[in-house]
Formats: sequence, structure tokens, C-alpha cells
Amino acid sequence: MNVLVIGSGGREHALGWKLKQSKNCKRVFFAPGNGGTDRVGTNVTTLDVSQVTTKSAEAIDYFCRQNKIELVVIGPEDPLANGLADRLTKLGLKVFGPNQAAAALEADKAFSKALMRGAAIPTAESRTFENADAALAYVEAHETPVVVKAAGLAKGKGVIVTDSADEAIDAVKQIMVDRAFGEAGDKVIIEERLTGQEVSILALVDGRNIYVLEPSQDHKQVGEGDTGPNTGGMGAYTPTPLVDDKLMQVIDRQVLVPTIDALRRDGVEFKGVLYAGLMLTPGGPKVLEYNCRFGDPECQPLMVRMKGDLLEIMLAVVDGTLDKVDIDWDRRVACCVVMCSGGYPGDYEKGIEINGLDEAAKLDDVFIFHAGTKKSGDKVLTNGGRVLNIVALGKDLAEARDRANAACDMISFEGGFFRRDIGDRVLKKAAK
Ligand code: AMP
Ligand code: GLY
Repeated sequence: MNVLVIGSGGREHALGWKLKQSKNCKRVFFAPGNGGTDRVGTNVTTLDVSQVTTKSAEAIDYFCRQNKIELVVIGPEDPLANGLADRLTKLGLKVFGPNQAAAALEADKAFSKALMRGAAIPTAESRTFENADAALAYVEAHETPVVVKAAGLAKGKGVIVTDSADEAIDAVKQIMVDRAFGEAGDKVIIEERLTGQEVSILALVDGRNIYVLEPSQDHKQVGEGDTGPNTGGMGAYTPTPLVDDKLMQVIDRQVLVPTIDALRRDGVEFKGVLYAGLMLTPGGPKVLEYNCRFGDPECQPLMVRMKGDLLEIMLAVVDGTLDKVDIDWDRRVACCVVMCSGGYPGDYEKGIEINGLDEAAKLDDVFIFHAGTKKSGDKVLTNGGRVLNIVALGKDLAEARDRANAACDMISFEGGFFRRDIGDRVLKKAAK
């Protein structure tokens, strides 16, 4: 069977790499892929996946039929939110990834907040505003710290955590008046600021059955010690000791099951990956956000540890037979460190040559996934903010992290940087 993976990030590289190892997987195509995915399969740059139209869906369908592709895996949120899964399914293709109505869980935070409220799913208290003056009046009068969120999709950057009313006022202005995130800021959510450790819980959902993957922890802020603005994710490791079996059961019962049930009550079927971003507060786990796809970078260390046949697993999701699936995991810890372009998450240059990739790839238990890269002859150049995702396995988190950092030290590009402290939140806690 041949598979098409839509997207160009480290997540898609890792998914394609894992799919390629599946018993029945012959060829993997990536649209558009990146400077590393062509080692696993074939990059297809003739398909327009940047917008979802009748024409673009028909072109994907035609390509799939020409190339005997029997499964399309949609990696990123934008095409899901724009209904690509719906269109391809209608054309008769098998698609891994939720339909547009289900993807609204991620694409419209006002919708997901209302759903959580309706189903009594634990989350931060919040209010939604469509009018900047009303939002400003609210934050001016508010005494406790708030978080201001653009309701729409903003590549993980549309959330501003504030310390004071002045910062909250600035945040509302940035989103609603200066339109820093475009129409994603038509509505804002203003919510109470929670404290605690954050974890990412990803679950496969086949419409009815839920299969929870191993828990992971992402690092959203750009700077070491969790400082600076939010990014798409600077590094992640799995499993995290923050979620034991008992807590996982609580999360399953209080969050995952009621989320899928609430959608079903509205006639919406969720198929794909449901990702709950949770804060472990003193009052229990609370949902910060939902995503409707694999987390990036959480996916990369998960794929390195997953022992099952990913193609079979994905087909079970599409066919509604997830109850027959059981997944084994490498018992070691996998840690992923993200190497970024200088300036990210703000402006950055592209087209800078990357050195040291081949040497680093020779290290034991190190896996290099490309994100924002492209090939130019036999050179690899930077082509995005998050450039490379270096995953390493270790007997524990400290060893995995050290290995990943050592590999990063062998790779260089002008201005490039990464966080050396992935996992510190639990390593430091353990040291205390
Ligand atoms: P989100 O995209 O909604 O997950 O938000 C991005 C990041 O902002 C989260 O990973 C948290 O670090 C932070 N954040 C979001 N909501 C809150 C909240 N209510 N309280 C504290 N931090 C938050
Ligand atoms: N790592 C966070 C995300 O994928 O949204």
C-alpha cells in the first residue's frame, strides 16, 4: 500500500518514517515534504496543499489514484480546519485526520470553550469577546492575572500569558486592534491564569473508541528556564512521570471521553488524533487547549518509541476498529530537541546552510527529523523557524536529553539555537 503524508514539518517526517517501517507500506509520498523527507519517500511539490478548494482536493485525489495511494495522512491543523478530510473522504479516499466540524475543537477556541462548559470538562474560567472595547473594559477591571488568546489558528503563537492589567490591555490590543494574528483574532478568549505543570495527552480516536498514547511534555516558551514568547514547541519528551496510570484514568474519564461524547451529541464524529493540552493544577488536570492532530514536536519522540505498525494503527482509526489495537512502546525515554533559526518565533532568515547532519546521524540512538529545511544540490538549507528535530533515546530522561543535546552540538547553521534544558521541569523537581 502507498501512503500520502500532507505537511512539511518534523511531525510529518517522523510519521512518514514510521509508516515506511510498516509491513504493508510500499511507498510514502510527502506533499510538500522537506529537505529530509525525501530520504524516506518522494516529495511531491506539484500539489497545492496550502489552501483547500474543490480543485486542490480533486488534484490530490487524481494524484492518489495515479500512484495507487490508499491512505492520506493529514499532519497539520490548517488543512483539517479547512475541510480537506471531508473533501477527500467524499471523493472516496481513506483519510487519517478529523473532519472540519471536529477540527473546530482546535480551530475555534470559542467553540471548544463552549463545548467544555456544556460537558463540565475541567478548564480555566473564561469569557469570549468579539469586541475590542468590551474586552479592554473587562481586563482593566480584572485583578487576577489573565491569559489572552486569539480564538482562531495562530501557529501556537496566539496566546499571551500576562502578569498585570497593563500587559493584558496590550495583549488585547495586539490581537484585536493591531491584528497580530490576522482573522484568528476576530474573537479573543480571556481566561484565568492557571499554574502547574503542563502535559500533552494524545489519543487515537476512531469515532467511538479512544486509545490513549503515552503522555508527553512540550516546552512552548522560546527561552531556557521557560522564558520569552510562546512558540510552536521547542522540545518534548515521553513518557513523562507527571502522569501515572491513576491520573491517566482521571484524564480519560474527565476529559477525553466527555469530549468525544459531547461532539457525538452534536452529530460530529472525531477520527484521528485528539490532543488535550493540560495543566496539572492543584485542583486537578484542566484543559488549556485541544488540538485535532499529532503534536509537533510531541509526535517525534512518540514515533521513535512506538513499536507497533503505524499503518495498521491508522487504518484501524479510519475503519473504526481501534478496539482491536494494542500498542507496545520502547521502555526507554525519548527526548526531542528543536533547533531553530535565529530570531524565531519572530522574523528569521531562510536559506542558511546546515552543517554536521551526517556526522550527528551516525550517533547511536539518535534520530534526526527535518522540519524547516530544503535541499539545494547536495546541501541542506534552512527554510523555516523550527529547522530540525533531534530525538534521542536514553535509559532515563537525563540520558536521552544529554544525547539529543550532544547531537545538536554537532550540527550548526548561522544564528541557529536550541534549548538545552528540555525536561528540566521534572529533572529539577526530582533533584529537589
Ligand atoms: P494554548 O495554545 O491554549 O495551549 O496556549 C499556549 C500556552 O500558553 C500553553 O501551553 C500554556 O503554557 C499557556 N497557557 C494557555 N492557557 C493558559 C492558562 N489558562 N493559564 C496559564 N497558562 C496558559
Ligand atoms: N506542540 C504543540 C502543538 O503541536 O500544538
